[in-house]
Amino acid sequence: MTVQHTGLNQWVNEVAALCRPAAIYWCDGSQEEYDRLMAQMVKSGMAIPLAKRPNSVLFRSQPSDVARVEARTYVSTTDKDDAGPTNNWVAPEELKATMQALYAGCMQGRTLYVIPFSMGPVDSPIAKIGVEITDSPYVVCNMHLMTRVGAKVLEKLGADGEFVPCLHSIGAPLAPGEKDPSWPCAPMEKKYISHFPEENLIWSYGSGYGGNALLGKKCLALRIASAMAKREGWMAEHMLILRLTNPAGRQFHIAAAFPSACGKTNLAMLKPTIPGWKCECVGDDIAWIKIGPDGRPYAINPEAGFFGVAPGTSYESNPSAMDTVREHTIFTNCALTDDGDIWWEGMDGAKPAHAIDWQGKDWTPASQEPAAHPNSRFTAPARQCPAICPDWEKPAGVPIDIFVFGGRRAGVMPLVHEATSWDHGVFMGATASSETTAANIGAVGNLRRDPFAMQPFCGYNMADYFGHWLEMGDRFGKQAPRIFYVNWFRKSPEGKWLWPGFGDNSRVLKWMCERVEGKVGAVETPIGFMPKEGDLDLTGLNLSAADFKELLRVDADAWRGEVADIEKHFSNFGKRLPERLRVQLEALRKRLG
Ligand code: OXD
Ligand code: MN
Repeated sequence: MTVQHTGLNQWVNEVAALCRPAAIYWCDGSQEEYDRLMAQMVKSGMAIPLAKRPNSVLFRSQPSDVARVEARTYVSTTDKDDAGPTNNWVAPEELKATMQALYAGCMQGRTLYVIPFSMGPVDSPIAKIGVEITDSPYVVCNMHLMTRVGAKVLEKLGADGEFVPCLHSIGAPLAPGEKDPSWPCAPMEKKYISHFPEENLIWSYGSGYGGNALLGKKCLALRIASAMAKREGWMAEHMLILRLTNPAGRQFHIAAAFPSACGKTNLAMLKPTIPGWKCECVGDDIAWIKIGPDGRPYAINPEAGFFGVAPGTSYESNPSAMDTVREHTIFTNCALTDDGDIWWEGMDGAKPAHAIDWQGKDWTPASQEPAAHPNSRFTAPARQCPAICPDWEKPAGVPIDIFVFGGRRAGVMPLVHEATSWDHGVFMGATASSETTAANIGAVGNLRRDPFAMQPFCGYNMADYFGHWLEMGDRFGKQAPRIFYVNWFRKSPEGKWLWPGFGDNSRVLKWMCERVEGKVGAVETPIGFMPKEGDLDLTGLNLSAADFKELLRVDADAWRGEVADIEKHFSNFGKRLPERLRVQLEALRKRLG
Protein backbone atom coordinates (compact mmCIF):
# COMPACT_ATOMS: atom_id res chain seq x y z
CA MET A 1 0.00 0.00 0.00
CA THR A 2 1.40 3.45 -0.85
CA VAL A 3 0.64 6.04 1.77
CA GLN A 4 0.91 9.70 0.84
CA HIS A 5 0.98 11.11 4.35
CA THR A 6 4.57 12.11 5.17
CA GLY A 7 3.93 12.56 8.89
CA LEU A 8 2.33 9.13 9.16
CA ASN A 9 5.09 7.40 7.19
CA GLN A 10 7.70 9.09 9.31
CA TRP A 11 6.01 8.07 12.58
CA VAL A 12 5.71 4.43 11.43
CA ASN A 13 9.40 4.40 10.47
CA GLU A 14 10.42 5.89 13.82
CA VAL A 15 8.36 3.36 15.75
CA ALA A 16 9.73 0.50 13.65
CA ALA A 17 13.31 1.68 14.32
CA LEU A 18 12.56 1.67 18.07
CA CYS A 19 10.48 -1.53 18.38
CA ARG A 20 12.39 -3.54 15.72
CA PRO A 21 9.57 -5.77 14.40
CA ALA A 22 10.25 -8.62 11.99
CA ALA A 23 7.76 -7.14 9.46
CA ILE A 24 5.49 -4.15 8.89
CA TYR A 25 1.93 -4.60 7.65
CA TRP A 26 -0.57 -1.85 6.73
CA CYS A 27 -4.17 -2.89 7.44
CA ASP A 28 -6.77 -2.37 4.71
CA GLY A 29 -9.78 -3.23 6.88
CA SER A 30 -11.06 -5.90 4.46
CA GLN A 31 -12.94 -9.04 5.41
CA GLU A 32 -10.20 -11.02 3.68
CA GLU A 33 -7.64 -9.46 6.01
CA TYR A 34 -9.75 -10.24 9.10
CA ASP A 35 -10.25 -13.86 7.98
CA ARG A 36 -6.55 -14.33 7.23
CA LEU A 37 -5.37 -12.97 10.60
CA MET A 38 -8.02 -14.96 12.43
CA ALA A 39 -7.00 -18.14 10.58
CA GLN A 40 -3.39 -17.52 11.66
CA MET A 41 -4.46 -17.15 15.29
CA VAL A 42 -6.55 -20.32 15.11
CA LYS A 43 -3.55 -22.13 13.67
CA SER A 44 -1.23 -20.87 16.40
CA GLY A 45 -3.73 -21.96 19.09
CA MET A 46 -4.45 -18.42 20.31
CA ALA A 47 -8.06 -18.50 19.03
CA ILE A 48 -10.53 -21.35 19.37
CA PRO A 49 -13.18 -21.54 16.63
CA LEU A 50 -16.73 -22.14 17.88
CA ALA A 51 -18.66 -24.91 16.15
CA LYS A 52 -21.98 -23.43 17.26
CA ARG A 53 -21.43 -19.83 16.09
CA PRO A 54 -20.43 -19.02 12.52
CA ASN A 55 -17.21 -17.01 12.16
CA SER A 56 -16.81 -16.75 15.89
CA VAL A 57 -13.88 -17.52 18.14
CA LEU A 58 -12.89 -17.66 21.78
CA PHE A 59 -9.69 -16.20 23.26
CA ARG A 60 -8.34 -16.79 26.76
CA SER A 61 -6.12 -14.13 28.30
CA GLN A 62 -3.50 -14.46 31.00
CA PRO A 63 -4.97 -14.19 34.51
CA SER A 64 -2.97 -10.96 34.99
CA ASP A 65 -4.50 -9.37 31.89
CA VAL A 66 -8.27 -9.46 32.33
CA ALA A 67 -9.41 -5.85 32.67
CA ARG A 68 -8.47 -2.21 32.41
CA VAL A 69 -5.65 -1.37 34.78
CA GLU A 70 -6.46 2.01 36.27
CA ALA A 71 -3.46 1.94 38.59
CA ARG A 72 -1.17 1.71 35.52
CA THR A 73 -3.07 4.37 33.50
CA TYR A 74 -1.49 7.83 33.21
CA VAL A 75 -2.44 11.27 32.02
CA SER A 76 0.86 12.99 31.43
CA THR A 77 0.72 16.79 31.24
CA THR A 78 3.49 19.34 31.72
CA ASP A 79 1.80 20.66 34.85
CA LYS A 80 0.57 17.97 37.25
CA ASP A 81 -2.49 20.07 38.13
CA ASP A 82 -3.69 19.86 34.54
CA ALA A 83 -4.12 16.09 34.98
CA GLY A 84 -5.90 16.74 38.27
CA PRO A 85 -6.57 14.61 41.33
CA THR A 86 -8.40 11.78 39.53
CA ASN A 87 -5.51 10.79 37.26
CA ASN A 88 -2.14 9.14 37.82
CA TRP A 89 0.56 11.51 36.67
CA VAL A 90 4.20 11.27 35.68
CA ALA A 91 5.99 14.12 33.86
CA PRO A 92 6.01 13.57 30.07
CA GLU A 93 9.83 13.37 29.68
CA GLU A 94 10.13 10.86 32.52
CA LEU A 95 7.24 8.68 31.35
CA LYS A 96 8.48 8.75 27.77
CA ALA A 97 11.99 7.78 28.83
CA THR A 98 10.66 4.84 30.88
CA MET A 99 8.44 3.67 28.06
CA GLN A 100 11.02 4.17 25.33
CA ALA A 101 13.29 1.79 27.23
CA LEU A 102 10.46 -0.75 27.29
CA TYR A 103 9.60 -0.22 23.62
CA ALA A 104 13.21 -0.76 22.51
CA GLY A 105 13.18 -4.06 20.62
CA CYS A 106 9.77 -5.01 22.08
CA MET A 107 8.35 -6.20 18.75
CA GLN A 108 11.21 -8.53 17.98
CA GLY A 109 9.96 -11.60 16.10
CA ARG A 110 6.52 -10.04 15.60
CA THR A 111 4.69 -8.11 12.90
CA LEU A 112 4.04 -4.40 13.38
CA TYR A 113 0.49 -3.72 12.18
CA VAL A 114 -0.53 -0.20 11.18
CA ILE A 115 -4.28 0.34 11.67
CA PRO A 116 -5.71 3.57 10.23
CA PHE A 117 -9.14 3.98 11.85
CA SER A 118 -11.96 6.44 12.13
CA MET A 119 -13.87 7.08 15.32
CA GLY A 120 -17.30 7.90 13.91
CA PRO A 121 -18.62 7.51 10.37
CA VAL A 122 -15.77 8.51 8.05
CA ASP A 123 -17.83 11.34 6.51
CA SER A 124 -19.12 12.74 9.81
CA PRO A 125 -17.98 16.26 10.78
CA ILE A 126 -17.83 14.98 14.37
CA ALA A 127 -15.51 12.01 13.57
CA LYS A 128 -11.74 11.89 14.26
CA ILE A 129 -9.01 9.75 12.75
CA GLY A 130 -6.52 7.69 14.70
CA VAL A 131 -3.74 5.35 13.64
CA GLU A 132 -2.90 2.47 15.96
CA ILE A 133 0.40 0.66 15.69
CA THR A 134 0.24 -2.72 17.41
CA ASP A 135 2.04 -6.04 17.47
CA SER A 136 -1.15 -7.95 18.33
CA PRO A 137 -3.28 -9.53 15.59
CA TYR A 138 -6.02 -9.93 18.26
CA VAL A 139 -6.07 -6.14 18.55
CA VAL A 140 -6.26 -5.76 14.75
CA CYS A 141 -9.32 -8.04 14.51
CA ASN A 142 -11.03 -6.34 17.44
CA MET A 143 -10.33 -2.91 15.92
CA HIS A 144 -11.96 -4.14 12.68
CA LEU A 145 -15.16 -4.72 14.66
CA MET A 146 -14.98 -1.72 17.00
CA THR A 147 -13.94 1.02 14.56
CA ARG A 148 -13.91 1.77 10.83
CA VAL A 149 -10.55 0.61 9.53
CA GLY A 150 -8.66 0.92 6.29
CA ALA A 151 -8.37 2.48 2.87
CA LYS A 152 -11.29 4.93 3.20
CA VAL A 153 -9.68 6.37 6.30
CA LEU A 154 -6.30 6.84 4.59
CA GLU A 155 -8.10 8.49 1.71
CA LYS A 156 -9.73 10.98 4.09
CA LEU A 157 -6.39 11.56 5.82
CA GLY A 158 -4.84 12.56 2.51
CA ALA A 159 -1.30 13.94 2.52
CA ASP A 160 -1.51 16.08 5.64
CA GLY A 161 -4.71 15.28 7.58
CA GLU A 162 -4.74 15.24 11.38
CA PHE A 163 -4.60 11.92 13.21
CA VAL A 164 -4.06 10.71 16.77
CA PRO A 165 -1.03 8.41 16.94
CA CYS A 166 -1.75 5.40 19.17
CA LEU A 167 1.23 3.17 19.87
CA HIS A 168 0.56 -0.23 21.37
CA SER A 169 2.74 -3.21 22.15
CA ILE A 170 1.91 -6.30 24.16
CA GLY A 171 5.47 -6.06 25.47
CA ALA A 172 6.52 -9.63 24.71
CA PRO A 173 9.40 -9.83 22.22
CA LEU A 174 9.89 -13.27 20.68
CA ALA A 175 13.40 -14.64 20.44
CA PRO A 176 14.19 -16.80 17.38
CA GLY A 177 12.75 -20.28 17.89
CA GLU A 178 10.92 -19.27 21.08
CA LYS A 179 7.39 -20.65 21.42
CA ASP A 180 4.73 -17.95 21.60
CA PRO A 181 2.35 -18.31 24.58
CA SER A 182 -1.33 -18.22 23.65
CA TRP A 183 -1.74 -14.76 25.28
CA PRO A 184 1.60 -12.94 25.32
CA CYS A 185 1.76 -9.82 27.52
CA ALA A 186 4.07 -8.12 30.04
CA PRO A 187 3.86 -8.45 33.84
CA MET A 188 1.72 -5.93 35.73
CA GLU A 189 4.60 -3.68 36.83
CA LYS A 190 5.61 -3.20 33.21
CA LYS A 191 2.14 -2.29 31.94
CA TYR A 192 1.61 1.38 31.08
CA ILE A 193 -1.46 2.98 29.52
CA SER A 194 -0.24 6.51 28.90
CA HIS A 195 -1.89 9.60 27.47
CA PHE A 196 -0.21 12.83 26.45
CA PRO A 197 -3.23 15.12 25.87
CA GLU A 198 -1.08 18.18 25.04
CA GLU A 199 0.16 16.29 21.96
CA ASN A 200 -2.92 14.08 21.34
CA LEU A 201 -0.67 11.06 21.77
CA ILE A 202 -1.29 7.58 23.25
CA TRP A 203 1.37 5.04 24.30
CA SER A 204 0.25 1.69 25.66
CA TYR A 205 2.57 -1.11 26.70
CA GLY A 206 2.27 -4.56 28.17
CA SER A 207 -1.44 -5.44 28.04
CA GLY A 208 -3.44 -7.04 25.24
CA TYR A 209 -6.85 -6.64 26.88
CA GLY A 210 -9.82 -4.41 25.95
CA GLY A 211 -9.51 -0.77 26.86
CA ASN A 212 -5.77 -1.13 27.51
CA ALA A 213 -5.12 -2.28 23.95
CA LEU A 214 -8.00 -1.24 21.67
CA LEU A 215 -6.80 2.33 21.78
CA GLY A 216 -9.68 3.89 19.84
CA LYS A 217 -12.07 3.25 22.73
CA LYS A 218 -11.25 4.53 26.21
CA CYS A 219 -7.85 6.05 25.34
CA LEU A 220 -8.77 8.03 22.23
CA ALA A 221 -12.57 8.37 22.29
CA LEU A 222 -12.66 9.33 25.98
CA ARG A 223 -9.35 10.43 27.53
CA ILE A 224 -7.75 12.20 24.57
CA ALA A 225 -11.10 13.24 23.04
CA SER A 226 -12.31 14.77 26.33
CA ALA A 227 -9.24 17.03 26.36
CA MET A 228 -9.72 17.89 22.67
CA ALA A 229 -13.42 18.54 23.28
CA LYS A 230 -12.65 20.99 26.07
CA ARG A 231 -10.23 22.87 23.82
CA GLU A 232 -12.54 22.79 20.81
CA GLY A 233 -15.92 23.35 22.50
CA TRP A 234 -17.65 19.97 22.21
CA MET A 235 -18.19 16.97 24.49
CA ALA A 236 -16.76 13.44 24.66
CA GLU A 237 -18.82 11.44 27.12
CA HIS A 238 -19.00 7.94 28.60
CA MET A 239 -22.63 7.66 27.49
CA LEU A 240 -24.91 5.29 25.65
CA ILE A 241 -27.23 6.86 23.10
CA LEU A 242 -30.73 5.58 22.45
CA ARG A 243 -33.81 6.67 20.53
CA LEU A 244 -37.19 6.23 22.14
CA THR A 245 -40.29 6.61 19.98
CA ASN A 246 -43.66 7.12 21.66
CA PRO A 247 -46.95 5.71 20.36
CA ALA A 248 -47.65 9.02 18.54
CA GLY A 249 -44.37 8.63 16.63
CA ARG A 250 -42.42 11.37 18.42
CA GLN A 251 -38.74 10.58 18.80
CA PHE A 252 -36.65 11.34 21.87
CA HIS A 253 -32.91 10.85 22.04
CA ILE A 254 -31.38 10.02 25.39
CA ALA A 255 -27.68 10.00 26.30
CA ALA A 256 -26.94 8.23 29.57
CA ALA A 257 -23.79 7.90 31.66
CA PHE A 258 -23.28 4.95 33.99
CA PRO A 259 -20.10 3.57 35.48
CA SER A 260 -18.70 0.37 33.95
CA ALA A 261 -20.87 -2.74 34.27
CA CYS A 262 -24.05 -1.00 35.48
CA GLY A 263 -26.14 -2.36 32.61
CA LYS A 264 -25.36 0.30 30.03
CA THR A 265 -25.43 -2.12 27.13
CA ASN A 266 -28.72 -3.56 28.41
CA LEU A 267 -30.29 -0.10 28.64
CA ALA A 268 -28.97 0.89 25.21
CA MET A 269 -30.75 -2.15 23.68
CA LEU A 270 -33.81 -2.01 25.90
CA LYS A 271 -37.04 -3.74 24.84
CA PRO A 272 -39.80 -1.57 26.35
CA THR A 273 -42.44 -3.40 28.35
CA ILE A 274 -44.88 -0.53 27.88
CA PRO A 275 -47.10 -0.97 24.83
CA GLY A 276 -46.55 1.22 21.79
CA TRP A 277 -43.07 2.48 22.73
CA LYS A 278 -40.05 1.57 20.64
CA CYS A 279 -36.38 1.77 21.59
CA GLU A 280 -33.45 1.77 19.16
CA CYS A 281 -29.77 1.74 19.97
CA VAL A 282 -27.36 4.35 18.58
CA GLY A 283 -24.44 3.43 20.85
CA ASP A 284 -23.76 1.57 24.09
CA ASP A 285 -20.67 3.24 25.56
CA ILE A 286 -19.46 6.56 24.17
CA ALA A 287 -21.10 9.71 22.81
CA TRP A 288 -19.40 12.58 20.98
CA ILE A 289 -21.61 15.63 21.08
CA LYS A 290 -21.39 18.87 19.12
CA ILE A 291 -23.68 21.86 18.89
CA GLY A 292 -25.58 21.67 15.59
CA PRO A 293 -26.60 24.53 13.29
CA ASP A 294 -29.89 24.88 15.22
CA GLY A 295 -28.06 25.25 18.55
CA ARG A 296 -29.08 21.80 19.83
CA PRO A 297 -26.60 19.13 20.93
CA TYR A 298 -26.08 16.40 18.32
CA ALA A 299 -24.46 13.08 19.23
CA ILE A 300 -22.68 10.37 17.31
CA ASN A 301 -21.47 7.01 18.51
CA PRO A 302 -17.76 7.07 17.62
CA GLU A 303 -17.56 3.26 17.75
CA ALA A 304 -18.68 0.67 15.21
CA GLY A 305 -19.12 -2.29 17.55
CA PHE A 306 -19.87 -3.43 21.06
CA PHE A 307 -17.27 -4.60 23.56
CA GLY A 308 -19.80 -5.84 26.08
CA VAL A 309 -19.53 -7.54 29.46
CA ALA A 310 -20.73 -11.11 28.86
CA PRO A 311 -21.81 -12.47 32.29
CA GLY A 312 -25.40 -11.58 33.07
CA THR A 313 -26.29 -11.13 29.40
CA SER A 314 -29.23 -13.38 28.52
CA TYR A 315 -32.41 -13.47 26.47
CA GLU A 316 -34.13 -12.23 29.60
CA SER A 317 -31.80 -9.30 30.31
CA ASN A 318 -30.82 -8.34 26.76
CA PRO A 319 -32.29 -10.33 23.85
CA SER A 320 -30.85 -7.91 21.28
CA ALA A 321 -27.30 -8.44 22.55
CA MET A 322 -27.82 -12.20 22.48
CA ASP A 323 -28.93 -11.98 18.84
CA THR A 324 -26.03 -9.63 18.03
CA VAL A 325 -23.45 -12.21 19.12
CA ARG A 326 -24.84 -15.21 17.24
CA GLU A 327 -22.15 -14.94 14.59
CA HIS A 328 -19.05 -12.99 13.57
CA THR A 329 -18.14 -12.32 17.20
CA ILE A 330 -14.94 -12.47 19.23
CA PHE A 331 -15.39 -13.82 22.75
CA THR A 332 -12.71 -13.29 25.36
CA ASN A 333 -12.48 -15.20 28.66
CA CYS A 334 -15.88 -16.89 28.35
CA ALA A 335 -16.27 -20.62 29.11
CA LEU A 336 -16.23 -23.22 26.32
CA THR A 337 -18.93 -25.90 26.27
CA ASP A 338 -18.35 -29.48 25.13
CA ASP A 339 -20.41 -28.93 21.97
CA GLY A 340 -18.29 -25.96 20.86
CA ASP A 341 -20.28 -23.02 22.14
CA ILE A 342 -19.50 -20.34 24.70
CA TRP A 343 -21.17 -20.01 28.08
CA TRP A 344 -21.14 -17.55 30.94
CA GLU A 345 -22.81 -17.12 34.30
CA GLY A 346 -26.32 -15.69 33.95
CA MET A 347 -26.98 -17.08 30.47
CA ASP A 348 -30.49 -18.51 29.92
CA GLY A 349 -31.27 -22.15 30.67
CA ALA A 350 -29.47 -24.72 32.71
CA LYS A 351 -25.76 -24.56 33.45
CA PRO A 352 -23.71 -26.94 31.31
CA ALA A 353 -22.83 -30.18 33.10
CA HIS A 354 -19.22 -29.68 32.03
CA ALA A 355 -17.24 -26.89 30.41
CA ILE A 356 -13.71 -25.58 30.05
CA ASP A 357 -13.39 -22.42 32.13
CA TRP A 358 -11.73 -19.16 31.06
CA GLN A 359 -8.38 -20.42 32.29
CA GLY A 360 -8.60 -23.60 30.19
CA LYS A 361 -9.44 -25.87 33.12
CA ASP A 362 -12.26 -28.38 33.54
CA TRP A 363 -15.34 -26.85 35.13
CA THR A 364 -18.61 -28.29 36.48
CA PRO A 365 -21.46 -26.58 38.36
CA ALA A 366 -19.82 -27.86 41.55
CA SER A 367 -16.70 -25.77 40.89
CA GLN A 368 -15.97 -22.98 43.33
CA GLU A 369 -14.83 -20.49 40.67
CA PRO A 370 -16.98 -18.98 37.90
CA ALA A 371 -16.61 -20.62 34.48
CA ALA A 372 -16.41 -17.27 32.67
CA HIS A 373 -14.31 -14.42 34.05
CA PRO A 374 -16.63 -11.74 35.56
CA ASN A 375 -15.17 -9.26 33.04
CA SER A 376 -15.31 -11.65 30.07
CA ARG A 377 -16.42 -9.88 26.92
CA PHE A 378 -17.94 -10.15 23.47
CA THR A 379 -16.81 -7.99 20.57
CA ALA A 380 -19.43 -7.71 17.81
CA PRO A 381 -20.25 -5.29 15.00
CA ALA A 382 -23.07 -2.85 15.91
CA ARG A 383 -24.74 -3.48 12.56
CA GLN A 384 -25.56 -7.02 13.71
CA CYS A 385 -27.76 -5.69 16.51
CA PRO A 386 -31.47 -6.16 15.73
CA ALA A 387 -32.25 -3.03 17.77
CA ILE A 388 -29.77 -0.80 15.97
CA CYS A 389 -31.22 2.60 15.04
CA PRO A 390 -31.47 3.24 11.28
CA ASP A 391 -29.74 6.59 11.92
CA TRP A 392 -26.86 5.19 13.99
CA GLU A 393 -24.36 6.16 11.31
CA LYS A 394 -25.96 9.47 10.35
CA PRO A 395 -22.99 11.82 9.92
CA ALA A 396 -24.79 14.74 11.61
CA GLY A 397 -25.70 12.64 14.66
CA VAL A 398 -28.99 12.64 16.57
CA PRO A 399 -30.35 15.56 18.64
CA ILE A 400 -30.19 14.91 22.39
CA ASP A 401 -33.30 15.70 24.47
CA ILE A 402 -32.32 14.09 27.75
CA PHE A 403 -29.15 13.37 29.73
CA VAL A 404 -29.29 10.65 32.38
CA PHE A 405 -26.78 9.89 35.12
CA GLY A 406 -26.84 6.94 37.42
CA GLY A 407 -24.98 4.31 39.35
CA ARG A 408 -25.36 1.21 41.41
CA ARG A 409 -26.52 2.11 44.94
CA ALA A 410 -28.26 -0.22 47.37
CA GLY A 411 -29.68 2.74 49.28
CA VAL A 412 -30.14 6.53 49.42
CA MET A 413 -30.61 7.19 45.68
CA PRO A 414 -34.25 6.93 44.58
CA LEU A 415 -35.35 5.25 41.37
CA VAL A 416 -35.47 8.59 39.55
CA HIS A 417 -35.20 12.30 40.19
CA GLU A 418 -34.88 15.27 37.87
CA ALA A 419 -32.63 18.30 38.08
CA THR A 420 -34.36 21.61 38.64
CA SER A 421 -31.82 23.49 36.49
CA TRP A 422 -28.78 22.85 34.28
CA ASP A 423 -26.42 23.67 37.16
CA HIS A 424 -28.29 21.26 39.40
CA GLY A 425 -27.96 18.59 36.70
CA VAL A 426 -24.22 19.21 36.44
CA PHE A 427 -24.08 18.86 40.23
CA MET A 428 -25.84 15.48 39.90
CA GLY A 429 -23.30 14.37 37.30
CA ALA A 430 -20.38 15.68 39.33
CA THR A 431 -21.48 13.75 42.43
CA ALA A 432 -22.58 10.50 40.74
CA SER A 433 -21.57 7.44 42.69
CA SER A 434 -21.58 3.68 42.39
CA GLU A 435 -20.57 0.49 44.08
CA THR A 436 -17.57 -0.89 42.15
CA THR A 437 -17.72 -3.95 39.85
CA ALA A 438 -15.34 -6.27 38.00
CA ALA A 439 -14.74 -4.07 34.92
CA ASN A 440 -11.53 -2.74 36.41
CA ILE A 441 -8.93 -4.46 38.52
CA GLY A 442 -9.43 -3.59 42.20
CA ALA A 443 -11.81 -4.15 45.09
CA VAL A 444 -15.40 -5.00 44.17
CA GLY A 445 -18.33 -3.53 46.11
CA ASN A 446 -16.82 -0.30 47.49
CA LEU A 447 -18.65 2.97 47.01
CA ARG A 448 -16.84 5.38 44.82
CA ARG A 449 -17.73 8.77 43.41
CA ASP A 450 -17.63 8.43 39.67
CA PRO A 451 -18.42 11.89 38.29
CA PHE A 452 -20.26 11.64 34.97
CA ALA A 453 -19.02 7.99 34.93
CA MET A 454 -15.79 9.65 33.71
CA GLN A 455 -13.58 9.10 36.75
CA PRO A 456 -11.32 6.62 34.89
CA PHE A 457 -11.70 8.36 31.53
CA CYS A 458 -11.34 12.12 31.89
CA GLY A 459 -8.12 13.20 30.19
CA TYR A 460 -7.65 16.43 32.15
CA ASN A 461 -8.43 18.03 35.50
CA MET A 462 -11.91 16.83 36.46
CA ALA A 463 -12.75 20.20 38.06
CA ASP A 464 -12.13 21.89 34.69
CA TYR A 465 -14.31 19.21 33.11
CA PHE A 466 -17.15 20.20 35.48
CA GLY A 467 -16.55 23.77 34.36
CA HIS A 468 -16.77 22.67 30.74
CA TRP A 469 -20.20 21.12 31.37
CA LEU A 470 -21.37 24.38 32.94
CA GLU A 471 -20.10 26.32 29.95
CA MET A 472 -21.73 23.96 27.46
CA GLY A 473 -25.03 24.47 29.32
CA ASP A 474 -24.64 28.23 28.94
CA ARG A 475 -24.13 27.71 25.22
CA PHE A 476 -27.15 25.37 24.89
CA GLY A 477 -29.32 27.94 26.72
CA LYS A 478 -32.99 27.13 26.24
CA GLN A 479 -32.10 24.16 24.03
CA ALA A 480 -30.30 22.42 26.88
CA PRO A 481 -31.38 18.81 27.40
CA ARG A 482 -33.21 17.97 30.64
CA ILE A 483 -31.12 16.08 33.20
CA PHE A 484 -32.22 13.10 35.31
CA TYR A 485 -30.58 10.73 37.82
CA VAL A 486 -31.63 7.08 38.09
CA ASN A 487 -30.84 4.14 40.32
CA TRP A 488 -32.11 0.75 39.13
CA PHE A 489 -30.31 -1.00 41.98
CA ARG A 490 -32.05 0.17 45.16
CA LYS A 491 -32.61 -2.59 47.69
CA SER A 492 -35.11 -3.09 50.52
CA PRO A 493 -33.78 -3.08 54.09
CA GLU A 494 -33.81 -6.91 53.77
CA GLY A 495 -31.52 -6.72 50.75
CA LYS A 496 -33.97 -7.54 47.94
CA TRP A 497 -33.93 -5.63 44.63
CA LEU A 498 -36.92 -3.31 44.59
CA TRP A 499 -37.10 -2.54 40.87
CA PRO A 500 -37.32 -5.20 38.13
CA GLY A 501 -35.02 -3.25 35.80
CA PHE A 502 -34.25 -4.24 32.17
CA GLY A 503 -37.29 -3.67 29.87
CA ASP A 504 -39.23 -2.11 32.74
CA ASN A 505 -36.73 0.75 32.84
CA SER A 506 -38.74 2.01 29.84
CA ARG A 507 -41.37 3.12 32.36
CA VAL A 508 -38.92 5.58 33.88
CA LEU A 509 -37.74 6.76 30.45
CA LYS A 510 -41.37 7.31 29.45
CA TRP A 511 -41.82 9.61 32.46
CA MET A 512 -38.74 11.57 31.38
CA CYS A 513 -40.10 11.97 27.84
CA GLU A 514 -43.44 13.12 29.20
CA ARG A 515 -41.64 15.66 31.36
CA VAL A 516 -39.91 16.98 28.22
CA GLU A 517 -43.27 17.17 26.45
CA GLY A 518 -44.81 18.95 29.44
CA LYS A 519 -47.44 16.21 29.73
CA VAL A 520 -46.75 15.40 33.36
CA GLY A 521 -45.92 17.51 36.37
CA ALA A 522 -43.64 16.65 39.27
CA VAL A 523 -43.31 16.90 43.01
CA GLU A 524 -40.54 19.21 44.15
CA THR A 525 -38.46 17.51 46.85
CA PRO A 526 -35.23 18.67 48.53
CA ILE A 527 -33.20 16.61 46.02
CA GLY A 528 -35.10 17.58 42.85
CA PHE A 529 -38.27 16.86 40.90
CA MET A 530 -39.86 13.43 41.37
CA PRO A 531 -42.85 11.69 39.77
CA LYS A 532 -46.30 12.59 41.02
CA GLU A 533 -48.39 9.69 42.19
CA GLY A 534 -49.86 7.92 39.17
CA ASP A 535 -47.52 9.57 36.63
CA LEU A 536 -45.02 6.73 36.46
CA ASP A 537 -46.66 4.02 34.32
CA LEU A 538 -46.76 0.86 36.45
CA THR A 539 -49.49 -0.91 34.44
CA GLY A 540 -49.01 -4.66 34.44
CA LEU A 541 -46.14 -4.53 36.91
CA ASN A 542 -46.25 -6.67 39.99
CA LEU A 543 -44.90 -4.11 42.43
CA SER A 544 -46.35 -3.56 45.88
CA ALA A 545 -47.32 -0.04 46.93
CA ALA A 546 -44.86 -0.33 49.84
CA ASP A 547 -41.96 -1.27 47.56
CA PHE A 548 -42.80 1.56 45.19
CA LYS A 549 -42.89 4.02 48.06
CA GLU A 550 -39.50 2.78 49.23
CA LEU A 551 -38.08 3.14 45.70
CA LEU A 552 -38.94 6.83 45.65
CA ARG A 553 -38.30 7.56 49.32
CA VAL A 554 -36.03 10.48 50.10
CA ASP A 555 -34.44 9.79 53.45
CA ALA A 556 -33.38 13.24 54.66
CA ASP A 557 -31.00 11.79 57.26
CA ALA A 558 -29.25 9.59 54.71
CA TRP A 559 -29.05 12.57 52.36
CA ARG A 560 -27.43 14.72 55.04
CA GLY A 561 -24.80 11.98 55.20
CA GLU A 562 -24.55 12.17 51.43
CA VAL A 563 -23.96 15.94 51.61
CA ALA A 564 -21.08 15.37 54.01
CA ASP A 565 -19.58 12.80 51.65
CA ILE A 566 -20.01 15.12 48.64
CA GLU A 567 -18.25 17.86 50.56
CA LYS A 568 -15.31 15.49 51.06
CA HIS A 569 -15.40 14.54 47.38
CA PHE A 570 -15.44 18.20 46.31
CA SER A 571 -12.54 19.02 48.62
CA ASN A 572 -10.29 16.86 46.37
CA PHE A 573 -10.60 19.52 43.67
CA GLY A 574 -9.49 22.46 45.82
CA LYS A 575 -9.75 25.91 44.30
CA ARG A 576 -10.36 24.58 40.80
CA LEU A 577 -13.87 23.38 41.69
CA PRO A 578 -16.34 25.75 39.98
CA GLU A 579 -18.10 28.04 42.44
CA ARG A 580 -21.43 27.19 40.80
CA LEU A 581 -21.12 23.63 42.14
CA ARG A 582 -20.39 24.85 45.67
CA VAL A 583 -23.54 26.95 45.39
CA GLN A 584 -25.49 23.80 44.46
CA LEU A 585 -24.11 21.88 47.43
CA GLU A 586 -25.03 24.66 49.86
CA ALA A 587 -28.52 24.92 48.36
CA LEU A 588 -29.03 21.15 48.78
CA ARG A 589 -27.83 21.32 52.38
CA LYS A 590 -30.30 24.12 53.06
CA ARG A 591 -33.20 22.32 51.41
CA LEU A 592 -32.56 19.24 53.53
CA GLY A 593 -32.84 21.45 56.64
C1 OXD B 1 -16.12 -0.53 29.36
C2 OXD B 1 -15.89 0.10 30.67
O1 OXD B 1 -15.46 -1.54 29.04
O2 OXD B 1 -16.49 1.13 30.94
O3 OXD B 1 -16.96 -0.01 28.62
O4 OXD B 1 -15.11 -0.43 31.47
MN1 MN C 1 -17.57 1.92 29.28
